[in-house]
Amino acid sequence: MKILSNGHLWKHTKFIENKNFFFDKSKILNSLSKIDIDEAYSTISNWEGYSSTPLIELNKLSKELNLNKIFYKDESKRFDLKSFKALGGAYAVEKISKGNKNIIVATATAGNHGRSVAWGARRLGLKCKIFISEFVSDARGKAMVDLGADVIKVKGNYEKSLIECIKQSTNNNWQIVQDVAWKDYVIVPKFTMAGYTVMMKEIVNQIKNSKITHIILQAGVGGMAGAMVAGIARYLDNVPITLVVEPDSAACVLESIKTGKIEKIDIKRESLMGGMSCGEVSLVPWEILKYSIKYCISLPDDNISKTMKLLGKASFSNEKIIAGENSAPGVISLIASCEDKKIKEKLNLNKNSNVLLIGCEGDTDQEMYQKLINQ
Ligand SMILES: Cc1ncc(COP(=O)(O)O)c(C=O)c1O
Repeated sequence: MKILSNGHLWKHTKFIENKNFFFDKSKILNSLSKIDIDEAYSTISNWEGYSSTPLIELNKLSKELNLNKIFYKDESKRFDLKSFKALGGAYAVEKISKGNKNIIVATATAGNHGRSVAWGARRLGLKCKIFISEFVSDARGKAMVDLGADVIKVKGNYEKSLIECIKQSTNNNWQIVQDVAWKDYVIVPKFTMAGYTVMMKEIVNQIKNSKITHIILQAGVGGMAGAMVAGIARYLDNVPITLVVEPDSAACVLESIKTGKIEKIDIKRESLMGGMSCGEVSLVPWEILKYSIKYCISLPDDNISKTMKLLGKASFSNEKIIAGENSAPGVISLIASCEDKKIKEKLNLNKNSNVLLIGCEGDTDQEMYQKLINQ
């Protein structure tokens, strides 16, 4: 039976090829080292409650798109935080605390990263201060309060919450655990990325003898995408075709890859894909992504709720998948790429392709999830 019929349009806004593409494994592992990657896995895989998240085959979708396999890494099952972010912030807290129980950690967040830091602090019995902008939902704030953090609401946007976090942390000697790097602040963001690479280690164990030919990576500030590319360099023998996907209102990686230097985007409209609505790629991932991403795609919000619904109804796979709004764009960009004959050929998407998609979150904001799937 046809799933994607009735003239429904699946389209990219932009699709570009990286003129500077050159995948150099050793250079990538200079930015995020093998030692950092291996230590993250050996640490996190020993945490209480750890287990690999499922790698689900979207077998119905691969049949319809005439691809061999589509693997969907389902991060809705990551600890009880329902997002890959659980791997990053919490790991960085452990690394910077070095067993010291007297430190206080602090971060600014749009939601999921802060939840990970709060959870990591609670695991280790540390105090935690979380700064959120006035636009972060009460539900997301409460989730962090429930994890024992002091949540401080700041007037203005995310940037204002970060400025306040830095100011109060400097005055009070709190340790900042941020997932975004800036000049002179790269070590902690590297720890968060090292934490994310655990996904790739699990995937390598889960795909058994299959070979991934394509990988589609969502990007906000690029931390997750950069980490997964480092995971490819560390764990895979081959180099899959690498694609980054972003909201068209905040395509900071795409615009930077186009010019070969970091470009700041003035976000005029917040995307539904909230975690990916970022105006500037972070420094550490940029060093990795600028040469190692082959194609960039930007998307409108149009198909997000439809895709979440199709995943939730088991239209693409044998089982139902709870996919949050930031999980949908991987699926959408793959479908849109296959619907465009020229792009499909250019990407070499065919019956031998094994595509890896990252389902980076589940219903991390349940109210939003229900609203979108009931649309
Ligand atoms: C919940 C969530 N937050 C953030 C991001 C973006 O991550 P990063 O800012 O590391 O690129 C994603 C996915 O790309 C996501 O699913």
